[in-house]
Amino acid sequence: MKPKIFVTRMLPDKVMEKLNHNFIVNVNPDDKALSKEEIINGTSDCDILLCLLSDTIDSDIISCNPNLKGIVNYAVGFNNIDVEFATKLNIPVTNTPGVLTETTADMAWALIFSSARRIVESDKFVRNGKFKGWGPKLLLGADIYGKTLGIIGAGRIGIAVAKRASGFNMKILYSDKNSNIEKTIQAKQVDLKTLLKESDFVSLHVPMLPETRHLIGEKEFKLMKDTAILINTSRGAVINEKMLLQALQEKWIAGAGLDVYENEPELVDGLIDCENVVLAPHIASASVETRTNMGIIAFENAVAIWRGDIPPQIVNREIYEK
Ligand code: GLV
Ligand code: GLV
Repeated sequence: MKPKIFVTRMLPDKVMEKLNHNFIVNVNPDDKALSKEEIINGTSDCDILLCLLSDTIDSDIISCNPNLKGIVNYAVGFNNIDVEFATKLNIPVTNTPGVLTETTADMAWALIFSSARRIVESDKFVRNGKFKGWGPKLLLGADIYGKTLGIIGAGRIGIAVAKRASGFNMKILYSDKNSNIEKTIQAKQVDLKTLLKESDFVSLHVPMLPETRHLIGEKEFKLMKDTAILINTSRGAVINEKMLLQALQEKWIAGAGLDVYENEPELVDGLIDCENVVLAPHIASASVETRTNMGIIAFENAVAIWRGDIPPQIVNREIYEK
């Protein structure tokens, strides 16, 4: 008998093929998020739950099926899952790190470019028929070359972002106490305050944890240069979004490039009216290759769980060490 897997949203074709080959798959047929009740319905009748970062997997869902063998998250971040509760019940939780590192770093750079060089505004300008010829002061932005890039969260993704900066002759600052960054590139460790004061671009790459919630708020915005640009491809709640709005409106900083929001998919009121922010809908890992590779890792995690092996990307390893 094949094990049953409940998949909360259709994944890329190659991934669905692999899943269908090895599992009895119950997949959400609609390309939209499920309600909590729908997730409970699916989870209560499966061996493994394969879920997304946009699904909140709380204790009600985790405990709805006493035979649940594992929770496989299709994301590197896992703040959407009550991992502590799953661990209490000895249920393995897995994620998909590694494969999305470079793709996410590319996106951070896409946001750096588009914010600094006002690409989105420029595109609108041209489409709206406003381009009447070259102008010496038309849509002036900021240089990237030779500037200072501050990396907050110099882990896998933060390091990949910093590496790309060497082609731009940038100075790299980072604030983590524990990072391997200096094994691969020249970078300087400074405290967060110094990083915020000295960086022209500040890019966030920390995981969502109680201690990283609102890491960037009023005080931090006020430390930043008024020419600085803030980039966020991590999790929305790392920034106090209300304060960000004020910082953008009152020009405490020059701009921001955001892929994530505090209350996704809601944005704080007023943000969409700001010209000095580039807004993307949480697509940092959204390349065809990477979304497929994430699915393959999720599949491999699910297979290992079913076999009783330690999955390749386990989040709560301690359940195997009890
Ligand atoms: C994306 O945000 C992820 O955590 O994979
Ligand atoms: C710009 O197009 C220039 O030639 O300076």
